[in-house]
Amino acid sequence: MEEKQLQEGKRHGRRLVFVLYPFQGHISPMLGLATILHSAGFSITIVHPQFNSPSPINHPPDFTFISIPDPLSQGKVSPGDFAAAMAALNGDSVADHLKLPAINVRTSAAITFIAFASLPHPQHHGYMSLQELFSQDLGPNLQSLKLKELLEPMTSHIHSNALPDLRAKMREATSSSSAIIVNTLEFLEHEVLEIIKGYFSPPIFTIGPFHKLAQTTFSSTSLLKENTDCISWLDKQAPQSVIYVSFGSMASMDGKEVHEIAWGLGSSQQPFLWVVRSGSVRGSDQPNPLLPEGFEEGVGERGCIVEWAPQKEVLGHSSVGGFWSHCGWNSTLESVCERVPMICRPFFGDQGFNARYVCRAWKAGLELEGTLERDKIEKAVRRLMVDEEGVEMRKKTLEFKVKTQLALKEGGSSYNSLEELVEKILSF
Ligand code: UDX
Repeated sequence: MEEKQLQEGKRHGRRLVFVLYPFQGHISPMLGLATILHSAGFSITIVHPQFNSPSPINHPPDFTFISIPDPLSQGKVSPGDFAAAMAALNGDSVADHLKLPAINVRTSAAITFIAFASLPHPQHHGYMSLQELFSQDLGPNLQSLKLKELLEPMTSHIHSNALPDLRAKMREATSSSSAIIVNTLEFLEHEVLEIIKGYFSPPIFTIGPFHKLAQTTFSSTSLLKENTDCISWLDKQAPQSVIYVSFGSMASMDGKEVHEIAWGLGSSQQPFLWVVRSGSVRGSDQPNPLLPEGFEEGVGERGCIVEWAPQKEVLGHSSVGGFWSHCGWNSTLESVCERVPMICRPFFGDQGFNARYVCRAWKAGLELEGTLERDKIEKAVRRLMVDEEGVEMRKKTLEFKVKTQLALKEGGSSYNSLEELVEKILSF
């Protein structure tokens, strides 16, 4: 007891500064992590650009929020140049300048270290070639997948001219940090984590899923207003009958694709909850008029369409039996750790290898590739929701849910990793 009080006393007055990138897929896990470390006794400051500011009212009153001017809010760059401009907001260099220890937080899977950072060669001076990297076998738990197969969706990006610089920057920032935190679970990425530990010396803490460890009354981190009517609609559906469809906060599609999705979901005969985010249909900021004429009347009570859903609550609802997703890392974790198997339709970036994890390594989902056509969609939905194949995938995600619960409990991998992280921060 005395020991515990002593530890808590030591934390008192220790402040952690979080630097946020203004994107939903980054803000949610970063605020989740801030909440976890606040509960562990640290004081929290959140530094964020004005664009896409998080709302302070959803967080503990003693969180300090500091908004900094950014080029997009000041009208100095177009949205297209914004990502590049945000590179200037580099938490590592600020920490370096102030001579403070920097912690590198990865809000995507651990495998992104291998995809985005060039790795030093183990035997000689220099870096591993992609061939050498790709030949690494990942061991029995990933059914002898080779890295090449997991990383294949990235190959074209890796060969592009811009990337060597970015890969070098990421390597330097990671290597010079005092610790690395990853929003993942040991059992999901064990082999990949072992490879990464061989290349980076800072200790790696895997305390995911952040949103599960961070569950408090201040849990909403959504930038958009969540439509909670869909929860009462879900309450009326049969157990595990609903396919939930959402492509996250950034992906967009054209009107024809939206029509194919509508007809595919319509003819699948399964109840569906579909998020059509405002602005996600190219050439329109009004989603509903773009749905096929008569579609909503045709499906009636079997379909529910919203602009933004309380996704974590949706995926935890007993009526939801499948998730058709773009495979952003947050959505992937929220789904497979909540016993919901997936239809994977990656759009860009890390989503391609998240989809490979789900479908090829974990056998917890199926890939929907090529042009979106109504027949293909109908078939994919029925494979996941009705066929034996889907039943097997659901068994797999149920196993993941149980393993996740164990990882979060005292003595579990994420729980232990959090304890070790707290010790590490106190040692700075
Ligand atoms: C972005 C990148 O696209 C992705 O590749 C990277 O892994 C993370 O950042 P994003 O499109 O934001 O991803 O998707 P995702 O990572 O899945 O995060 C979306 C978040 O929004 C999730 O936490 C999800 O719960 C939430 N969400 C989504 C809602 O709360 N409501 C919705 O209706 C849809």
